[in-house]
Amino acid sequence: MAETLVTDDLGEALRQIAHDVDTCFDALLPVPQDARARLIEAMRYAAIGGGKRMRPLLCVTTAGMLAVDRETAVRVGCAIEAIHVYSLIHDDLPCMDDDALRHGKPTLHRQFDEATAVLAGDSLHALAFEVLSEAERIPDPFVRAELVSCLARVSGADGMAGGQMMDIVAEESEFDLPTVTRLQQLKTGALLAASVEMGAILGHLPAEGRRALRHYAHDIGLAFQIADDLLDHEGDEELAGKALRKDAEAGKSTFVSLLGADRAREQARILVEQAIGHLSSYGAEADLLRSVARFVVERQR
Ligand code: IPE
Ligand code: IPE
Ligand code: MG
Ligand code: MG
Ligand code: MG
Repeated sequence: MAETLVTDDLGEALRQIAHDVDTCFDALLPVPQDARARLIEAMRYAAIGGGKRMRPLLCVTTAGMLAVDRETAVRVGCAIEAIHVYSLIHDDLPCMDDDALRHGKPTLHRQFDEATAVLAGDSLHALAFEVLSEAERIPDPFVRAELVSCLARVSGADGMAGGQMMDIVAEESEFDLPTVTRLQQLKTGALLAASVEMGAILGHLPAEGRRALRHYAHDIGLAFQIADDLLDHEGDEELAGKALRKDAEAGKSTFVSLLGADRAREQARILVEQAIGHLSSYGAEADLLRSVARFVVERQR
């Protein structure tokens, strides 16, 4: 991890969330002594260790600003991460990006097999909603319903899956900037924005009070995907832990193909400053969100 680029607080927050998410997935995924063992082993292989945990970090940080108990927020963050991990498993499949490396190790279908990868993705998808429906952890039924509805919306055709479809179509079409922006917003931005939104829902922040946080989340979501496209264009495969230079090879319309790397980088930087600007009504309690915004474009993996 590019620890040198991050402030001490952010470095500590990244280490802490990585530990908490791993602990939570470990508890959620005990391996049964029957023929399903392979499925749970595969889910653990993809979900434990590896990712930056940006979505749980956004959820837990936002919830923390609103005095939500950390354990509950981590659990909700894991539900979001379960959707993210499932989306990566399916994204790496031969029928999609056909990738061999993820988080510096073989992709799930390479380590296990394609059928197991499909089922591990399906099961992580279901696990996300099972976690959000736990009445013992989240006693307020309105909060539970709003969390479920929010995560469902950003996962399906109006969110991640819809964006992934547009991303595939982008290989055969010449998308313009507004269409690529919409694609990225659905594919990546929606789940990142939901991570902030779900922290706010847990904190009982009324919808009117969420406006600034929503603008912040929208901008870092877009900046995050521009950074991913820049990484694909000019990043270091060793640091990224995944195959790069794939977008141009696939003839995909991205911010980098449309704007060029320099203007894409400038655009990402502007979005981060704009995101931080949206937090102006908050004091030091939002410093971690400000650091996360900078990390989104400075990251090397
Ligand atoms: C990678 O997401 C895929 C996109 C949605 C751009 P992340 O960069 O958040 O992936 P990990 O989990 O940290 O590896
Ligand atoms: C995947 O986008 C986004 C998902 C919703 C999974 P990419 O295909 O660009 O992600 P990487 O580069 O493989 O991580
Ligand atoms: Mg893809
Ligand atoms: Mg991919
Ligand atoms: Mg990519």
